[in-house]
Amino acid sequence: MKGARVLAWGRAVPDQVVTNHDLEKLFETSDEWIVQRTGIKERRIAKPEDTAVSLGAKAAQNALTKSGLKAEDIDLIICATATGDYLFPATSCLIQDKLGAINAASFDISAACTGFIYGLNTAYTYIASGQFKNVLVIAVDLMSRFTDWGDRRTAIIFGDGAGAAVLQACAPEENAFKSFYIKSRGDGDCTLYVPNVGNQYPVKAEDITAKPTMVYMDGQAVYQFAVKAVPDALEKALAKASMVAADIDYFIPHQANYRIIESAAKRFKVPVEKFICNIDRYGNTSAASIPIALDEALENGTIDPKQKHKLAFVGFGAGLTWGACVLEF
Ligand SMILES: CC(C)(COP(=O)(O)OP(=O)(O)OC[C@H]1O[C@@H](n2cnc3c(N)ncnc32)[C@H](O)[C@@H]1OP(=O)(O)O)[C@@H](O)C(=O)NCCC(=O)NCCS
Repeated sequence: MKGARVLAWGRAVPDQVVTNHDLEKLFETSDEWIVQRTGIKERRIAKPEDTAVSLGAKAAQNALTKSGLKAEDIDLIICATATGDYLFPATSCLIQDKLGAINAASFDISAACTGFIYGLNTAYTYIASGQFKNVLVIAVDLMSRFTDWGDRRTAIIFGDGAGAAVLQACAPEENAFKSFYIKSRGDGDCTLYVPNVGNQYPVKAEDITAKPTMVYMDGQAVYQFAVKAVPDALEKALAKASMVAADIDYFIPHQANYRIIESAAKRFKVPVEKFICNIDRYGNTSAASIPIALDEALENGTIDPKQKHKLAFVGFGAGLTWGACVLEF
């Protein structure tokens, strides 16, 4: 079996900042309530001209440039998204075209906010099997396009963004990935979902105008799920890697709610500072939150590749899905 390493990370977020004070103008809420319950102060919201393809391609190009590879060197593009430009073709195919990655195969992964971990696991498996050498993993979501901006229970949470990683085959002894754990539980579909856009979408004209296509989220139920899913995934991935929480230099959790992150730090008895957190500035960017947080941590020097930090990613989301990955970078 071959090993895999990450050559580079990248990210792209829209320029437009929407603060909690901006949301106070849309519905009854307050900056204080949102910060206290979620840790979010502001989020980036896509402009009309931004799409999952344009933002995803920007993050991918950013990672590709840093990797030193050319677009033609990429063998496979995996895009994790729940908010792609079309039902089909896949967002990854359209990004392939934008990059000029003419030698690649491309497909999308639908695992909502756990999508980046699912994508990374898939990329690693293709590389380990020897089928592909250079794999580009992209995670992009424009949750704002499916947010009801009159619903204070959901509109405060989400933001838009994209992240990417370029993986390359290497010798087994240089393998960066120590373990993966991914899981799903399909009975949670009504807890977090977007109704009326799949094949169940009504064909009668009156239904099309009457039925909303906005995110429905049972916040309390998702919260209860998340505080169990995060430790479950981390415990399983750490055990597979024959490691304990104290061995990890930095945890990069899905950025959904600061209280969920705090609860995980408490559970594993590690200082919360070991959990990389940028939720205050971006909110929940769904699949993109982990690679955005990682790329920022590299840029500001928190994570230094020279030190070969031991990292743990952990995510959860609609499906319900959850998962974790332990790696060295
Ligand atoms: C969404 C979330 C912040 C809501 O916080 P909460 O403490 O569960 O709040 P509740 O929905 O129970 O509502 C409590 C009260 O606050 C009110 N409220 C809800 N949103 C509000 C807002 N934005 N501003 C002010 N008040 C608000 C409710 O109306 C309710 O008032 P009531 O008791 O008079 O009816 C929280 O449930 C959460 O973060 N859940 C996890 C979501 C998540 O991680 N999603 C992503 C998954 S990938």
